[in-house]
Amino acid sequence: MIQCEGLVKIYKTDDLEVVALQGLNLSVSDGEMMAIIGNSGSGKSTLLNILGGLDRPSAGQVRVGPWDLLKASDDDLVKYKRDTVGFVWQNNARNLMPFLTALENVEMPMMFSGKLDRAYAKQLLEWVGLKDRMHNKLTQLSGGEQQRVAIAISLANKPQMLLADEPTGSVDSRTSDMIMDIFRRFNRELGLTVVIVTHDLSLAGKVDRVVAIRDGLTSTEFIKRNPNLDNAPSLHGSGGGLDEVHEAYVVVDRVGRLQIPKEFLQALDIKDKASMEFDGEKILIRAPKSLEGETA
Ligand SMILES: Nc1ncnc2c1ncn2[C@@H]1O[C@H](COP(=O)(O)OP(=O)(O)OP(=O)(O)O)[C@@H](O)[C@H]1O
Ligand SMILES: [Mg+2]
Repeated sequence: MIQCEGLVKIYKTDDLEVVALQGLNLSVSDGEMMAIIGNSGSGKSTLLNILGGLDRPSAGQVRVGPWDLLKASDDDLVKYKRDTVGFVWQNNARNLMPFLTALENVEMPMMFSGKLDRAYAKQLLEWVGLKDRMHNKLTQLSGGEQQRVAIAISLANKPQMLLADEPTGSVDSRTSDMIMDIFRRFNRELGLTVVIVTHDLSLAGKVDRVVAIRDGLTSTEFIKRNPNLDNAPSLHGSGGGLDEVHEAYVVVDRVGRLQIPKEFLQALDIKDKASMEFDGEKILIRAPKSLEGETA
């Protein structure tokens, strides 16, 4: 579904350049439900905005299904945004109309694409648990309820892929669970591909795969442990942080590059060079010999 290779995004402001993505690789299969984690400023929203057709990459490849988002014309992007992808924003005020009812809000994107389907709009609101609130104006709904309206809106045009930027950022854990269950249901029942950006590691237990972004590059992947292989009871229990549920892998790109965590580099005082050795089983990365004496 998603294929990014060497994706670069540079923001230019006056005389400053910010490299938000610096050659990022990512692939996501059709029908997968995965999460992206990373520190503030690591490039998560930048990546999601590019995948959502809201922003253009500076260089590299980015394909979603049949669409080449680097080469797509502006008209193509409008069509892409309308038909292929649903988006839940970090700040949901961006796609909500406060003085319309929940139902009218969900019907809005349907009207833009000329496919108003009131029955389906009602169905969506029922699925997100707002059956009794659909005729209320958004100003009369709580933050968590508004967030669920935003999810119904994002699904109004039956997209193949849903991109959600911190969808549970401002709701309590019960609503957060409910939102994740909604995503899982659409993923299972309709084959929707779901990409969630989150700070919340407890959500990580609810997806199949977590990709960590560090400084605009994918650095680590966490893949769900097969519950049949190691009977980890935590899989079905509450919490389920990354370590309990997932196996961690460092990402190695096509030309063999990998990112060494800053803490490791600092601990060994490795700056711009390291020595590497292969002992037949393991690869050992060390501070250069000449430095070892100095740091010892
Ligand atoms: N429009 C912009 N103009 C200039 N710089 C930007 C712009 N948008 C983002 N950046 C910069 O790009 C980098 C990545 O930002 P991004 O919003 O993708 O981070 P993020 O991982 O989503 O962070 P957060 O978790 O805080 O939402 C940051 O250094 C940010 O300051
Ligand atoms: Mg962000």
